[in-house]
Amino acid sequence: MRIAVVTLFPEMFSAVTDFGVSGRALQQGLVELAYWNPRQFASDRHQTVDDRPYGGGPGMVMLADPLRQAIAAAKQWATAEGEMPAQVIYLSPQGHPLGQSAVVELAAPLAATRPERRGLVLLAGRYEGVDERLLETEVDAEWSIGDYVLSGGELAAMVVIDAVIRLLPGALGHADSAAQDSFSDGLLDCPHYTRPECYRGRSVPPVLLSGDHGRIRRWRRQQALGRTWLRRPDLLEKLTLDEEQQELLAE
Ligand code: ADE
Repeated sequence: MRIAVVTLFPEMFSAVTDFGVSGRALQQGLVELAYWNPRQFASDRHQTVDDRPYGGGPGMVMLADPLRQAIAAAKQWATAEGEMPAQVIYLSPQGHPLGQSAVVELAAPLAATRPERRGLVLLAGRYEGVDERLLETEVDAEWSIGDYVLSGGELAAMVVIDAVIRLLPGALGHADSAAQDSFSDGLLDCPHYTRPECYRGRSVPPVLLSGDHGRIRRWRRQQALGRTWLRRPDLLEKLTLDEEQQELLAE
């Protein structure tokens, strides 16, 4: 269960290694993270990793060769003996939109439900991008975390790491909390409340205090459906609702 990251800025990843669910999962050894810096594979004494784009234009493009070598080393580390080579994923705004179903796919081999590919290599680009020939030859999939441009792929790689790790068995305290996440059933999450019972004149919905677990479950499912219908009707279009959900939506 290894995730290798190819990045010019490994220090940024302390955000996922040092805190919360992902930090704990790393400490427990559920997943291992390691970094390869393309600068270490540069061929000149200035450790150059970028150059001007052919055809002109602003910005710089990452050189193919230091990245190829960094990916090769990362892939070797992330691939267990006898297994298929670790998948190499490039994060960029040009990639397929990353959704929970893609995260589940990425986590499945790591969770050993599909053990043939247990490692993952995440390539975080910088500058205007990466030489296209490197992407054509070394990258298996390209994912985007949204229709906006970040200054580099590191934040996107951290998003992938966090989303994948929380699906690994044992990563979350409560056994089935990942199954209760928003999007795990294709819907947005229901609202949550904790103490006090009345906060600034706003009371917790009485059903949640009723102790009737059947009613609470129905109410939560109905809230999730209603919110999805109001806020993200596009999600509902993709779903086939079960009988109870159709009933709840009609109420
Ligand atoms: N790198 C820069 N912007 C990105 C985005 N939106 N998604 C993934 N990687 C990126």
